[in-house]
Amino acid sequence: MPDNRPKQLRTRAIEHDAFFLSPHPCLRCNGGIFSFAEKLMERRLFIAYGLSSCMVAALAACQSQPLPPPSPVMPGRQLPAAWRAMLADAARAPSSHNIQPWQLHLDTPTHGQLCLSPSRRQMATDPAGRETWISLGAFTLALEVAALALGRAAEFEWMEKPPNAVQITLRPCQATDQWLACLRQRRTLRRNLAPARVDDKLWPLVDQQRTSAFYLPHGTAGAARISQTTLEASLIQAGDDAVWQELADWIRWREEDARRNPTGITPASMELPWLAQRWVAAFYGREDVLAPAFRQRSLDLTRSQVQEGAGWLVIAAPDDSVQSYYVAGRHLMRCWLAATAQGLALHPMSQALEVESLRHSLGKDLGTAHLQMLLRVGRPPSYPAPVCPRLAPEDFVTCSFA
Ligand SMILES: Cc1cc2nc3c(=O)[nH]c(=O)nc-3n(C[C@H](O)[C@H](O)[C@H](O)COP(=O)(O)O)c2cc1C
Repeated sequence: MPDNRPKQLRTRAIEHDAFFLSPHPCLRCNGGIFSFAEKLMERRLFIAYGLSSCMVAALAACQSQPLPPPSPVMPGRQLPAAWRAMLADAARAPSSHNIQPWQLHLDTPTHGQLCLSPSRRQMATDPAGRETWISLGAFTLALEVAALALGRAAEFEWMEKPPNAVQITLRPCQATDQWLACLRQRRTLRRNLAPARVDDKLWPLVDQQRTSAFYLPHGTAGAARISQTTLEASLIQAGDDAVWQELADWIRWREEDARRNPTGITPASMELPWLAQRWVAAFYGREDVLAPAFRQRSLDLTRSQVQEGAGWLVIAAPDDSVQSYYVAGRHLMRCWLAATAQGLALHPMSQALEVESLRHSLGKDLGTAHLQMLLRVGRPPSYPAPVCPRLAPEDFVTCSFA
C-alpha cells in the first residue's frame, strides 16, 4: 500500500504536557491502553506510585534508550574561573529542543572560536541548521551580557568561510550587570499565557545587521494567519516518524537521564504537575513519544496554545544565509531579555517555520520573505525559576593553554 503521509513534518507541542494538562480518556503505558478514570479509582495504587516513584524511576531508567553522549570534557586542563562563570551564564541561552549546540575552543585567555557541536544537531527537524545557528546566536548575546557583568567586553566576528564559526575576543571594560538578572531568570513558559498589553517599543526593532522584530496582537489578520499556519504545519508534521524519533531522542524522562546528559527537555520543563512528572518518569519512554495518541495530544495542545496569550512576536531576516540565522538568534535573545524584564513570557512555536513551503507562504502573507522565529507573547500566571538542564562549561569547551 502506498504511504501517503506528508514527507515534511515535525511537532513540538508534545514538549508540553501532551498527556496531563487536560483530562484524557486514555493513558498509554508500556504499550497498553487503559482508562484514566479506572486508574484514578485505584487510588491507593496511584498514591503508592507517587511515593515510590523515585525507586520505580531508577528501575525504569535501566530500560531507557541509550542517550547521545555529551561532547568530550576538556582533556586535562583547567578552565579559567572567569571563563567558567561567564560560560555558565551564557549557557542559559535558549536552544531548539535544548540541544545546546555551542562548542568553544579557547586558544588564549582572551580569544576563542565558537562553532556548532557535531553531536548536538537535529538532522530531521532542522536540516539546514537554521534553528541551530539561531540558538548559537542567542548564546553569543548571552555571553556578551555575562562578560559585561565581569568587566569584559565580548566582541564577535563572523567567519564567512565554511565551516562557519564565530571568533570571540574579550577586552577589559567597565563592569555592568544591567541584564544579568534577566538572563538568569529567563526561561520558556508555555502554559496559561494570558492576554497582556504589550508596548510596541518593547522590542529592539531592527538589528544593525537588518534582522527585524515585529509584534502582531491577537485580533489582527497577521496573528490569525500565524495561528492557522502553525496548526496546519502541526498537522503535516504529525505524520513524520523521523521527526518524532528525533524528538524522542531529546526528551529526558528521568532525572537520572538528565543528570547523565543535561541536554534536551524534561517533564519539569514541560511544566507537568509534580505528580505527573513522577508518573512519566516511572512509566514513559521512547515508544510513548512515537505512539499516535501522543501526536494527537500534541495537536490538541497546539490548538489551544495558538489561541492563548496576547499575540505573536515575529523575527525576520533579510535573507536565509547562515550568518542571518546567527544574527536572528542574537536579536531573539535581546527581545527575550526585554520581555523578561517586563514579566512577559515568550514561547517559540516553530512548526510553521519547519515546513519550508509554509514558511515561504506565511512570509509572503506577512510581507517579509525570510521568517526566522515565531513566538507567542503573553502574561504568565507567575514567572518560575528556570528548570531546563544545562551542560557544564567543561562539557562544551576545549582549551589550548593551561
Ligand atoms: C530556535 C529555537 C526554536 C524553538 N522552538 C520551540 C518550539 O517550537 N516549541 C517550544 O515549545 N519551544 C521551542 N523553543 C524553546 C526551547 O525548547 C527552550 O529554549 C529549551 O528547551 C530550553 O529551555 P529554556 O528556554 O526554558 O531555558 C525554541 C528555542 C529556540 C532557540
